[in-house]
Amino acid sequence: MNRITTEVPFHRRTRASHEAAYVAEALSGDRLCAGNVFNRQCESWLQTHLPVTRALLTHSCTNALEIAAILARLQPGDEVIMPTFTFTSTANAFALRGAVPVFVDIQPDTFNLCPHAAEQAITPRTRAIVPVHYAGIACNMDAIMALAEAHHLTVIEDAAQGFGAAHHGRPLGSIGHLGTYSFHHSKTISCGEGGALLLNSPEHVARAEVLLDKGTNRKLHQAGSIAQYSWVDLGLSAPPSAMQAACLLAQLEESTSLLQRYRAVWSTWHAALADTEQAGLLRRPHLPPDIQHNGHIYAVLLPDAAKREALASALQALGIQTARHYYPLHLSEAGRRLGRSAGSLRQAEDINERLLRLPVYPELPSWLPEQVTRLVKQVFSDAV
Ligand SMILES: Cc1ncc(COP(=O)(O)O)c(C=O)c1O
Repeated sequence: MNRITTEVPFHRRTRASHEAAYVAEALSGDRLCAGNVFNRQCESWLQTHLPVTRALLTHSCTNALEIAAILARLQPGDEVIMPTFTFTSTANAFALRGAVPVFVDIQPDTFNLCPHAAEQAITPRTRAIVPVHYAGIACNMDAIMALAEAHHLTVIEDAAQGFGAAHHGRPLGSIGHLGTYSFHHSKTISCGEGGALLLNSPEHVARAEVLLDKGTNRKLHQAGSIAQYSWVDLGLSAPPSAMQAACLLAQLEESTSLLQRYRAVWSTWHAALADTEQAGLLRRPHLPPDIQHNGHIYAVLLPDAAKREALASALQALGIQTARHYYPLHLSEAGRRLGRSAGSLRQAEDINERLLRLPVYPELPSWLPEQVTRLVKQVFSDAV
């Protein structure tokens, strides 16, 4: 098979029609910092389209997780259960509070937190569970919420990859007590760096607004209730600038059609690779019942690490980029120092060795999935 004429990058951000115009409008406005009209419009868009009490725009999902960790009032030594197969930010946010990330295994079908492993990891110090919706495919939230209720735990959904996806029709991020989104460049709906914190009940609203605004009660001052604002709590500098929010607003307004295009590319991969799964050459993503995914990631599992490398190299030779994903946190240097493992983490270790992400974005050449499928058969022809 010949090298294709243009490189196929692993990711290409899809622009929304109005984003350049909105960013230009933001730049010509008189307020680029927090409290600008675009930030307010994004928050209002999220609050209108999601069943949440309040949505607050942040610089990143990392930032939103850090605020969620403060809202959960974690103390040093408290334990927070999370999958080991996740990004560093999931654990960092809690380690920064002095809490201990407790790493548990994932389910082999969805690569999401295993509720049984989470249950086994509960101790008298456990305060929170952080389900991560890998690839925008929902965790078993029924089991996780039941566990949390039985043990009085806070559920903070890391829905970094979950915008536009749902479980039993309920948007990811709006099911736990708190939820977080990423609008990073690499996500389906993006503005460079960006995120959101979702508050799913009124109890956290007032404190969250203070935490986001450097620990001050400036909002009360702006509303005319106090003459001078001051430092009242812990705080971070969270809201993005008007330029980021303007770009995000254009993306949010067009998100239904953008996500449909992502899902269509995902489905093209899924259909093209059906034969290869039947032939036992790889495993395609498995979708649990009653979920809506967002087409963010198409990850296949190869039979072993050597076959994963063989396929990635063959695709690279043709100019097609692919990617592995998370190095399990319990194996990482900081994870060993700052967290602890609970139970066997064999599934995550195994999946880390065999998972390969294929490029998914609306501008992906439509012939690519068929070509890659032929290549898979060719590379593993001895196995067919
Ligand atoms: C599961 C998970 N959580 C958090 C993050 C951090 O997101 P951000 O880059 O918006 O801080 C990522 C990044 O991809 C992620 O995959």
